[in-house]
Amino acid sequence: MSNETRQAFTKAYGEKESIQTYFCPGRINLIGEHIDYNGGVVFPAALTLGITACISKREDDVVRFSSTTIPGMVEIRLRDTLSNKSSQNWANYPIGVLAFLQKEGYALSGADVMFSSTLPDGAGLSSSAAIEVLTAFMFLVENGHPEPNRVWLSTFAQKVENEFIGVNCGIMDQFSVANGKKGQGILLNCNNLDFRYVPIELGNYRLVILNTHKRRELADSKYNERRAECDEALAILNQSGTYPDLCSATTESVQSLISDPVIRARAIHVVTENQRVLEACRVLEEGNLVRFGQLLNESHFSLRDLYAVTGKELDVITEAARSHASCLGARMTGAGFGGCAIAIVEKNAIQEFIRIVTEMYESACGLVPSVYVSEIGEGLRKMS
Ligand code: GLA
Repeated sequence: MSNETRQAFTKAYGEKESIQTYFCPGRINLIGEHIDYNGGVVFPAALTLGITACISKREDDVVRFSSTTIPGMVEIRLRDTLSNKSSQNWANYPIGVLAFLQKEGYALSGADVMFSSTLPDGAGLSSSAAIEVLTAFMFLVENGHPEPNRVWLSTFAQKVENEFIGVNCGIMDQFSVANGKKGQGILLNCNNLDFRYVPIELGNYRLVILNTHKRRELADSKYNERRAECDEALAILNQSGTYPDLCSATTESVQSLISDPVIRARAIHVVTENQRVLEACRVLEEGNLVRFGQLLNESHFSLRDLYAVTGKELDVITEAARSHASCLGARMTGAGFGGCAIAIVEKNAIQEFIRIVTEMYESACGLVPSVYVSEIGEGLRKMS
């Protein structure tokens, strides 16, 4: 991918003396969904799929962004990044990063940049977090600033997404793409950003990503609605207790104190999902993949029945996956309402699994899924 990106770079901008290459992966979340903004623990991992960028610094303050998949070049002056948004939506992620780096006081020069991506577009594998983290890292390094601390980098990129892009996401995506390690999941406490790596050792099983190709249209509005419902649940609980966040409540307190059935259901998902994350890491470390798979299923059912963020396509594809004897468990991953699911599947049966799941999903939903056997990869890095 880096050779192709480099060729595309020289085609767009001509030969340059110094062209540097950087990579940032996407992520999946193994378990712990809609937990990061509720102060609990999540368990994501970085992928080997991701975004590559070739960059060459300029002497002036012009920045040019291109992508191998989207036609057209976006050009902006550094001093205009705070006030101007591009009509090319994708370019607003790197533009927002440059605006906010300057706001933080970092001196930057212009640059020519070519992006290319192996992440399926709009599939909920965190391509926006990847482009934010990647842009911040490479502009800081190329401008001679010290290599940024990755926890800082994650919170910085989240701030860009919240305040410049206007999406009220939690910290999970930016954190996992910045801090991923090959073969390891990240058990992250979203309250204090303490984390530890947990090896993903699946023996004869593999992690499979099922892309529903269902566009996540409702994702942003429903995401904000769920956040508001969680705030409401916490406010009700705190009329009689002192819970710093929803994840520190118990199912008993939720059952006894919250009478609204919708708000109660949302809160029960959050409290039980947080417990599932801890159990999932424990059983994975013990090598109990069968229980790990069951927890993935339970997570999906809770997201479907209590949190209401799955939708027909994710339900059908995970149901099809579970119906195959080689599958230990399956669940949606990310915000929901479309995008991707994950499944743990016995490696020798993967081809047949793909055939059956594709058939079942296509006949029920009229869409052809994409299936990727996924590797857990290294986080953000400089390639050359
Ligand atoms: C999106 C958000 C994350 C997280 C997940 C749900 O991916 O960007 O912060 O809230 O949804 O777990």
